[in-house]
Amino acid sequence: MTGADAEGTALLEVRSISKHFGNVVALKEVSTRVEPGTVTCVLGDNGAGKSTFIKVLSGVHRHDEGEYLIDGQPVRLSSPREALDRGIATVFQDLAMIPLMSIWRNFFLGSEPTKGRGPLKRFDVKSAKRTCRHELAQMGIDVRDPDQPVGTMSGGERQSVAIARAVYFGARVLILDEPTSALGVKQAGVVLRYIVRARERGLGVILITHNPHHAYPVGDRFLLLKRGRSLGEFAKAGLALSDLTQMMAGGAELEELGHELERDAAQVAHQFEAEASALSVGHAGQGGGEDNQATNPDP
Ligand SMILES: Nc1ncnc2c1ncn2[C@@H]1O[C@H](COP(=O)(O)OP(=O)(O)O)[C@@H](O)[C@H]1O
Ligand SMILES: [Mg+2]
Repeated sequence: MTGADAEGTALLEVRSISKHFGNVVALKEVSTRVEPGTVTCVLGDNGAGKSTFIKVLSGVHRHDEGEYLIDGQPVRLSSPREALDRGIATVFQDLAMIPLMSIWRNFFLGSEPTKGRGPLKRFDVKSAKRTCRHELAQMGIDVRDPDQPVGTMSGGERQSVAIARAVYFGARVLILDEPTSALGVKQAGVVLRYIVRARERGLGVILITHNPHHAYPVGDRFLLLKRGRSLGEFAKAGLALSDLTQMMAGGAELEELGHELERDAAQVAHQFEAEASALSVGHAGQGGGEDNQATNPDP
């Protein structure tokens, strides 16, 4: 028992972890804890360290400093398989699916259910299709035909299948790397709905995104990264979407850019005025704008 148990047992916790690639500090002293039935959103601009962070959590990279605990036990993961065995499932951006294969085959890829024994052992197709349809229905995905190739599904649906698969195979922590970044508004909504479903089933979800509009409606907690460092972790309570947008990497920079553009525009206008007045001086003897106005037929 540790003091942390007072707040509930964390499925996963990192304390001040850092990760370097040569001279590049990709992650510096980042901490968070993930509890069952919660969604933690990791936000940050490109290069903030989001992917590095989840690669450490999912066993792709080992952290250089700090502590990584699963169920309160310190771990040093050496492969994604090891993370998966401990219930940490990651849906990477490329999804690891085979587009020409059917939905149900993709669903069971690498973990096919079998029936019979010894030489009679074979892939139980009927049960696989039934399970696939049932599991997807549980997540609110209505598949008419599980034989349909995965490649014919929309991006949002494919993300949803990947999520449903992770849930079915016993994930306790579900990590999603920018699942909504390539999707339109409606499709993103579909994926966000499955994230909420996964949370309702008691999973701890870590959602990586650079879009506060996607994070805010589903997140319980928001971890902001910038250039590898944490800008802090904020609870939803007392936080408005506008606060989140403001705090997000672009916030301050966009404002600065706005000022810069204003300055540029003022400069251009100033230059234009100078040129215009030089021109009107040059044309003064030939009659200028004043004459035009005098002959204006308007009432
Ligand atoms: N394998 C790697 N080797 C060297 N540098 C890396 C590697 N992976 C990431 N980085 C660097 O670490 C920083 C954070 O990258 P990343 O975690 O991909 O950010 P994000 O996912 O937020 O865009 C970047 O400066 C990136 O160039
Ligand atoms: Mg990334």
